[in-house]
Amino acid sequence: MTKAAKIIQKIAGTEPISAAIVLGSGLSAIGELLGDKVAIPYSELKGFPGGGVSGHGRDLLIGTMGGKRIAILTGREHYYEHGNADAMRPALETMAALGAETLLLTNSAGSLDERFRPGDLMLLSDHINYAGMNPLIGEPTDRRFVNMVDCYNSELRAKAKAIGARLDIVVHEGIYLWYSGPSFETVAEIQMAIRLGANAVGMSTAPEVILGRFLGMKVWACSSITNMGAGLSDEKISHEHTKTMAVQGADKLRKLIPALVEEL
Ligand code: HPA
Repeated sequence: MTKAAKIIQKIAGTEPISAAIVLGSGLSAIGELLGDKVAIPYSELKGFPGGGVSGHGRDLLIGTMGGKRIAILTGREHYYEHGNADAMRPALETMAALGAETLLLTNSAGSLDERFRPGDLMLLSDHINYAGMNPLIGEPTDRRFVNMVDCYNSELRAKAKAIGARLDIVVHEGIYLWYSGPSFETVAEIQMAIRLGANAVGMSTAPEVILGRFLGMKVWACSSITNMGAGLSDEKISHEHTKTMAVQGADKLRKLIPALVEEL
């Protein structure tokens, strides 16, 4: 049990959580969906995201959703903030210690696929770790050799697609390529990512998926598409634009995520 887990249990109670949800840029409003919630500032929890990126929250929320006890991390720490690919390890270890068997990740991403437009959702079916960094570098045990086949749990993906069909929300599926950021991609880098077979690019998530699998959690991830990749449209890519456009995806995730949690 991590020190942070003990603090959380003291504040929010010892009943185990079923799942942890990580919210990406501009998606922190999803935290409003939690009932009977307790908010704990990250600053009180050792190892939780520091610094911060605008558009991200800085609280851990514990409460109920879809009849389950859930933790929501309203913001994440990114590799690009200081070059630590394992920045989310203490927070995710704490989630596992609190009982989370499932990890639901969200992010904002740029589309490489004409069919996936700003405002759309894309489930991650797989990823390409193009940043080349791995959060398990330095992990001394053989547990570091994590099998990444089906790392985006296929049952959870199928459930999310069925829920999308029921709620009339288009849910695409595709491969996410992790570029470190924080600069956006060049036009040439976007063309390369397309040739590598990716459908979307972003600056997060892949290291958390590796950590989630390392910790034995079932992992699911969904991108809110905020823009077309650099050079694929006339829109001007910026962090402000990402935050503004994320609202559309957030409205869909607000419906999709509670329905998915109910089925966990
Ligand atoms: N590239 C990388 N990350 C992103 C993008 C993008 O175009 N949009 C939102 N996050």
